[in-house]
Amino acid sequence: MKKVAFTETVLRDANQSLIATRLPFHKFESVLPVMDKAGYYSVECWGGATFDSCLRFLNEDPWERLRKIRSLMPNSKLQMLLRGQNLLGYKHYPDDVVKKFVQKSVENGIDIIRIFDALNDTRNIKVAVEETLKCGAMVSGAISYTTSPVHTLDKFVNVAQEMKKMGVSTICVKDMAGVMGPQEAYDITKALKEKVGLPVILHTHCTTGLAFMTYLKGIEAGADVIDTATSCFSGGTSQPATETLAYALTQLGYEAEINSEIVKKVNDHFKPIRDEYLANGLLMPRTMATDTDALSYKVPGGMLSNLFSQLQQLNALNRLDDVLKEIPNVRKDMGYPPLVTPMSQMVGVQATQNVLSGRYTNIGKEVKAYLRGEYGQTPGEVNEELRKKALGDDEVITCRYADLLKPEFDTTKQKLKGIAKNDEDVLSYIAFPQVAEKFFADRKAKEENRVSYTIEEEEE
Ligand code: CO
Repeated sequence: MKKVAFTETVLRDANQSLIATRLPFHKFESVLPVMDKAGYYSVECWGGATFDSCLRFLNEDPWERLRKIRSLMPNSKLQMLLRGQNLLGYKHYPDDVVKKFVQKSVENGIDIIRIFDALNDTRNIKVAVEETLKCGAMVSGAISYTTSPVHTLDKFVNVAQEMKKMGVSTICVKDMAGVMGPQEAYDITKALKEKVGLPVILHTHCTTGLAFMTYLKGIEAGADVIDTATSCFSGGTSQPATETLAYALTQLGYEAEINSEIVKKVNDHFKPIRDEYLANGLLMPRTMATDTDALSYKVPGGMLSNLFSQLQQLNALNRLDDVLKEIPNVRKDMGYPPLVTPMSQMVGVQATQNVLSGRYTNIGKEVKAYLRGEYGQTPGEVNEELRKKALGDDEVITCRYADLLKPEFDTTKQKLKGIAKNDEDVLSYIAFPQVAEKFFADRKAKEENRVSYTIEEEEE
């Protein structure tokens, strides 16, 4: 019987996608020993936006959260998401910081690091992959999935083969926008299984309504693991429901590697929490609904809502259609970057400017950095005319951007003497300087038993 295993995302991606990563530790602490017995392939619980959110909004030390999860889930594989050389954000960090971050993540309890680069430039994941392996943890190499004339099956397979050479244990197909259709999932899974031969993990979101079909066809082609969320935190911009897939797969003759009775207990724990967030408005019904705009506009849902508010602010909502028509042109000129953060913002803003003030009369700073090669190798050829216009005589970077960066960890540690208690604190500061500074000050105030001030709520 073909087995299918489950990665539960309620603590990270579901939490991030539905309630802006605002789930505090105390709300799920008591269910962790239960989750530990559910038989998940892994529990995605850290990385992504959880780190920033802990420091910025929840007044929690993200490292302490990880250690507590570890101690309450001794039998589970704890998984985190890491954006290669960008760690948890969008800027490139020097190698010494990347290595230290990986070491400390593993030391504090992570078993599996899922590592990706938004442009699928494997030079940007190499240091993180090597360090993870050195620390004795497992690497899942993730391909950023998108569709474009240059994102062919062969290209995806090549990326996976390079990852295999680096020593990753599994290949994850990561569709951040929920745009991968069932046939595409079937084709890519089949190609990866045949040509790369590592276990395949599928990751998508329900946004467009495709996800259940996408997983099913991917599994028919041999996918081994799927990312799902406990049902009350599933659907909409989150993952498909764990229980529903386990039920359907069992009926279809697969062995769903999960304990359904325990999974029900897990869901019972999260139900009232879901209801609480619905009541206080943090969880919006719209977020849980199906939105097929991404399919017709070929633009992910999140990017579309950004465009709406952008145009609204400029009093130019009537130009939306023109902007939507301009997006594919800009994307093509930029060599087809996947429309995920930060590229989706770059493309969206540039397309808006092109429509409102003429094609490339203003070129954004980020677009220039991208065209200079600071983000890595572009997936397809860049429009040379645009590049010349944007860069003038500036040279294009052909090396890995991090090769140009000076080590940062030791000097930062020195700078934080008396403030940072340990290397973990130094890493928090390097990742989110202002936010970490406030967090440290608040912590100190609390320890000295003074009245602590609340961290100001800012939107990212
Ligand atoms: Co995701």
